[in-house]
Amino acid sequence: MMKRIIPGAAMLYGSLLLAGCAASQKNTGSEQLPSLKEVFSKDFAIGTALNAAQIEEKDPGAAKLVPQQFNMATPENIMKAEVIHPRWNEYNFTLADKLIEYGKKHDIKINGHTLIWHSQLPAFARQIQSVDSFRLFFTNHINTVAGRYSGKVFSWDVVNEALNEDGSMRKSIFLSKLGDGFVTEAFRLAQTASPNTELYYNDYNNEQPAKRAGCIALIKKVQAAGVRIDGVGIQGHWHVGKVPLKDIEESILQYAALGVKVMFTELDIEVLPRNFQGAEVSQRMQNTPAMNPYTNGLPDSVQQQLADDYEALFKLFLKHKDKITRVTFWGVDDGQSWLNGWPIRGRTNYPLLFDRQFKPKPAFFKVIGTKTKS
Ligand code: G3I
Repeated sequence: MMKRIIPGAAMLYGSLLLAGCAASQKNTGSEQLPSLKEVFSKDFAIGTALNAAQIEEKDPGAAKLVPQQFNMATPENIMKAEVIHPRWNEYNFTLADKLIEYGKKHDIKINGHTLIWHSQLPAFARQIQSVDSFRLFFTNHINTVAGRYSGKVFSWDVVNEALNEDGSMRKSIFLSKLGDGFVTEAFRLAQTASPNTELYYNDYNNEQPAKRAGCIALIKKVQAAGVRIDGVGIQGHWHVGKVPLKDIEESILQYAALGVKVMFTELDIEVLPRNFQGAEVSQRMQNTPAMNPYTNGLPDSVQQQLADDYEALFKLFLKHKDKITRVTFWGVDDGQSWLNGWPIRGRTNYPLLFDRQFKPKPAFFKVIGTKTKS
C-alpha cells in the first residue's frame, strides 16, 4: 500500500532537495512519495513513455515507480511500424502484447503510438514504388495493428507529425504516394478497425502559431469528412527557461474550440544547449565539450529553473483542466530519456521529474505543489 505524505511535508522535502540538503538521502523508497496519478486524479491522466526493458519489468527502479506514479503509458518505440510490421506479410506483436498485459496488471491505460508516421518505417515500406501497393501497405497496417488492439488500447496516435513548421503538409512518403487526404483516410480506417478507441493527431511545435493553424486546418478537414477525431496531442518537447506558455495557452483554447480533447503527450524540458526548437529526429548537431556541460550533475540554478518551468506548466494545465485529458512525460527517469542521444549522442541530460536513481527531483515537488498549495 502506498503511504501518503502530507502536503506540507512534500513541500519541505522539495525545499530540502533544492538546497542540496543531505535530507534527500533519507528517501530510500519511492513508497513515501506523493503519487502524480493520485494527486491529479480529478484533473487529468498522468502518463509516461515506456521502453522495452520497462515493459518487460527488467528495470527494477522503473518497475517500482511506474505503477505508483502513472495511470497511462505510451510505448516509446515498440508499436512503431519498423518494430511491429517489419516485413510485408510479417508482424511482430510480442512486445506490444506484453505491454497490454503490463497495462492490465498495473491498471495503466495504453495509448498506442503510432499508426502512421514517416519516421521509423520498415525498410520494405520505403522501397514500395507503386501507389496501389503503398495504399495496400497503409490499409493493411492500420487494419491489422489497430484491429488487433481494438478494445485493448485506450487510444491511438493515429497520425504523427504530418506537418511542417509553417503549417503546410510535410513532404513525407505518405503525402507523395497518397496525397493530402491520407490523414483523413488513416482516421477513417482506424475508426473502423478499432471503433471504441479514442483517436488522436499528434505533433511537436503545434503550439506555435503557424503550425497550430495547419493543425487546426487538418483537424477540421477530418471532421468535415464526417470522420471521428477525438483529440490532439501537443508533444511538449521544450527547453528550460523557454517554455512558450502563451502559445501553449492559446493552443489549448483554440484546439478545445474545435471540440477535441487536448493532451500533452511527450512532455520533457531539455536543459542542454540546442540551437533549434522541436523534435525533428533527423536534425543533428555537432558534439563539443561545451555542448555537454553537466556530466557531473546539474547546477542548482538550472535545477531551480527546471522546477519553476514545470510548476508554471502544471499551473497552466490545471487552469484548463476541463479541456486537458492527459499529460504524459516522455520517459520515466532522466537516464531513459531520448534527449541523452539527440540531437547529439552521448550527452547527460536532465529533462524529467525523476533522476537516474529514480529519485524525485525538485521539479517533481513543484509539480505536486501546484495541487497541494492551491
Ligand atoms: O533498436 C535499435 C537497436 O537495435 C540498436 O542497437 C540501437 C543503436 O543505436 O538503436 C536502436 O534503435 C533506436 C531506437 O530509438 C530504439 O531504442 C534508434 O537508434 C533511436 O533513434 C530511436 O530513437 C527513438 C526516436 O523516437 C526515433 O525516431 C527514441 O527512442 C524515441 O524516444 C523517439 O520518440 C519520438 C516519438 O516517437 C515521436 N515524437 C518525437 C519523439 C522524440 O524523438
